[in-house]
Amino acid sequence: MNHFEYRNGEMFAEDVPVKRIAKEVGTPAYVYSLATLKRHFRVFDQAFAKIPHIVCFSVKANSNIALLRTFAKEGGGFDIVSGGELFRALKAGADPKKIVFSGVGKKKEEIEYALNSGILMFNVESEHEMVALNEIAGGIGKRAPISLRINPDVDPQTHPYLEVVGVDCHIGSQLTSVSPFVDALARVREYLDRVLVGSLLKEGARIRYLDLGGGLGISYKDEMPPHPEEYARAIIQGVEGLDVTLILEPGRVIVGNAGILLTEVLYLKETDEKKFVIVDGGMNDLIRPALYGSYQAIQPVMQNNGEKIVADIVGPICESGDFFAKDREIARPDRGDLLAVMSAGAYGFTMASNYNSHPKPPEILVDGDQYYVIRARENFDDLIRGEVIPAALQ
Ligand code: LLP
Repeated sequence: MNHFEYRNGEMFAEDVPVKRIAKEVGTPAYVYSLATLKRHFRVFDQAFAKIPHIVCFSVKANSNIALLRTFAKEGGGFDIVSGGELFRALKAGADPKKIVFSGVGKKKEEIEYALNSGILMFNVESEHEMVALNEIAGGIGKRAPISLRINPDVDPQTHPYLEVVGVDCHIGSQLTSVSPFVDALARVREYLDRVLVGSLLKEGARIRYLDLGGGLGISYKDEMPPHPEEYARAIIQGVEGLDVTLILEPGRVIVGNAGILLTEVLYLKETDEKKFVIVDGGMNDLIRPALYGSYQAIQPVMQNNGEKIVADIVGPICESGDFFAKDREIARPDRGDLLAVMSAGAYGFTMASNYNSHPKPPEILVDGDQYYVIRARENFDDLIRGEVIPAALQ
C-alpha cells in the first residue's frame, strides 16, 4: 500500500498535488511519501514482533539521510556496504550497535572506521577478508565481532582478534515467494548445527545473531510477493528453538513503492514504425530499465481519457539504451505533461549518475500536506566540483 493516488483525476502524494511539486521544484525530481515509508517499516518490523530481531534497512536501496533518520527513529538499524554508507547512517543518528557491515570488498580504512564506530558486526564473506579483518582489528587493539556468510570455507579458530557472533546469508533480490527464504534458513541451520556448533562452541563462542539478508520483492507490475507477515511467519517458524536475534536487511520492500520519479514530457516524435515520448528524466536519474530491462509503471500525473498510443518512453541521454519503457501503452501525452515513473524509491537515486553532465535531481519528502526538499537539485558548479585545470594548461 502506498500514498500515491488519484483524486479527481489528479495524482497526489499524500495530501500534496504532485503537479505543485513539479511547478515549485522542477523536474525531474524524486518524490517520497513519509507515511508510506513509516508504514512499510512498521508493518515489516511488527511482523517479527514475537521474536528478538533487528530490522537493518539496506542503505544501498536509498541512502538519503532524511530517510535513514526516519528508520532510526522507528528503532531500525542499518545494513551498510561501504564507509560512505556508514558515514550516512551515523549522520542520520543510527545506533552503531544496530549496524551490520556486508559486502565482498571492504577496504582497510572502511574496516577501521567501522571498528572505531563500534558497529554490531561484520558479515565476512571470504577467507582473505577474515585474515585482513583479523590483522586490522589487532593493529588497533580491538576484537572484531563477525558473522560468517554460510559456506564460507574458512576456519574461524585461527583468528584471535575475531569473535564469531553470527551467521548470515543473502540469497537474492526481488524474490516473490517465501520458499527460497525458507530453504536458505534451513541451510543456515544445518550449517550452524554441523559446522559451527562443533568447532566454535567448545571455544566458548556463542552464535547470537542469524542474519537472513534482504530480498523480499515488491509489485512493479503484476507480481504478487508475499505480505511481510506471511514472510515473517515462515521465518519465525524456521528459527524456532534457536536462541538468536534475527537480523533482517530489507531494502526494496521498505522504500520501493514509497517513491516516484517525476518527469516532464519534452517532445513527441513519430516515425513510420514507432512513436517516442521524450521526457526530461533519463537513465542518469533512474537506470533500472536501461541496466536490467526492468519494468517500471509509468502514469500520467493528470489522467486523460484521450487516445491511447504505444510508444517508447525515452530520456535525453545520447544512448539507444536510455529508456524508461518500450512499446508501452499510454494515453497520448502533450508537451509539458507530467509523468510519474512509479516504484522508483529503491535503487533509483542511489544509482543515479551525472552522465551527459546532467545535474542529479532533487529528492522531495512529502509529509501530509507539506513537503521538504531533502536533497537539493544539483547545479552546474556541483558538476565540476573537485575538477582542476592544471597550471601547465592555463
Ligand atoms: N543485504 C545484502 C547483503 C544485499 O546484497 C542486498 C541487496 C540487500 C540486503 C537488500 O536487498 P533488497 O531487500 O533491496 O532486495 N540494483 C538492483 C538490486 C541490487 C540488490 C543488491 N543487494 C535493482 O535495482 O534491482
